[in-house]
Amino acid sequence: MWQGLLHHYAEFLPISEKTPKLTLLEGNTPLLPIPTISKELGIEAYVKIEGANPTGSFKDRGMVLAMAKAIEEGSKAVICASTGNTSASAAAFAARAGLRCIVVIPDGKIAEGKLAQAVMYGAEIFAIKGNFDQALTMVRKIAEEEQVTLVNSVNPYRIEGQKTGAFEVCESLGEAPDFLSIPVGNAGNITAYWRGFKEYHERNHTQLPQMIGFEASGSAAIVRNEVVENPETLATAIRIGNPASWGKAVDAAKESKGFIDEVTDDEIIEAYQLLAQKEGVFAEPASCASIAGTIKKVKAGIIPSGSKVVHVLTGNGLKDPATAIQTSPVKPTVIENNIEQFAEAITGVRS
Ligand code: F0G
Repeated sequence: MWQGLLHHYAEFLPISEKTPKLTLLEGNTPLLPIPTISKELGIEAYVKIEGANPTGSFKDRGMVLAMAKAIEEGSKAVICASTGNTSASAAAFAARAGLRCIVVIPDGKIAEGKLAQAVMYGAEIFAIKGNFDQALTMVRKIAEEEQVTLVNSVNPYRIEGQKTGAFEVCESLGEAPDFLSIPVGNAGNITAYWRGFKEYHERNHTQLPQMIGFEASGSAAIVRNEVVENPETLATAIRIGNPASWGKAVDAAKESKGFIDEVTDDEIIEAYQLLAQKEGVFAEPASCASIAGTIKKVKAGIIPSGSKVVHVLTGNGLKDPATAIQTSPVKPTVIENNIEQFAEAITGVRS
């Protein structure tokens, strides 16, 4: 039986007998082939469904470790800034562990499902009249001065926990892929995956993938090589203009002979709908930057045909119902409670 990440990967993580065995049974997420998109692009594509984690995003991998270490170190409260998923995950694990959880989110710029999660798990929520970068600056300062543990990905345990995603990819495939495509926001996850692939390579002599990260065009600080003061994108999870792990993400791309590029909101939405309608996979918009990026790079001849490409679908599509409903071409047809009218309306289906 699966017993969670701290149990399964104990020897690869900085834990001891003193570390609490905290878990919501995170990790062990599916790696699903996407045959229709693979065929269209002439590659062998897979998606790592991180939306199958307990709070619906990859954040649970790092949060379980960060929270367990906070408890081990005697902390009674945690704090984070978040575009939504980190706050949902922190709130859930804090609830489970009985810790106080303070979250700072950009007012009006987080998806409704994520806010619902933080509310339900009982976090203390502050909606700042500002963006994620400003919220992060604020919580970093407070964490230096107060008795509260910062659980953003600048906490090294977050990265350690998240590297397990790479281990699982290698275990599922029996090797590393040629390319690992991943959305980039605060740049912690690309850093974590690269570390995970390197560690797996050292132990098991698997090959190393080329790391390819994608920012949203309106928030593409790394690509532009300058801080974006007012980041914008419909993919609110990655609406970040000054990524905390900027340098490490650049190193991951460079060392792996990969790159970090950008995709537009239109490209993200196209990939979002393609994935749902052709593969039956509903991931949140930010996650689909990985698919949008691959489409762009296959078209440009940068990803060769036949390549094995794994996409990290970082969050569940249900987190952001508003974007789904607003951008989908499918609208419910309202009808009377009348079987003839209904039969008429679906004739196309029957014939
Ligand atoms: N995808 C989703 C769904 C995310 O929530 C995030 C980050 C990313 C991708 C980017 O990952 O920051 O490690 O480069 N969300 C953070 C949050 C910022 O607060 O939930 P990253």
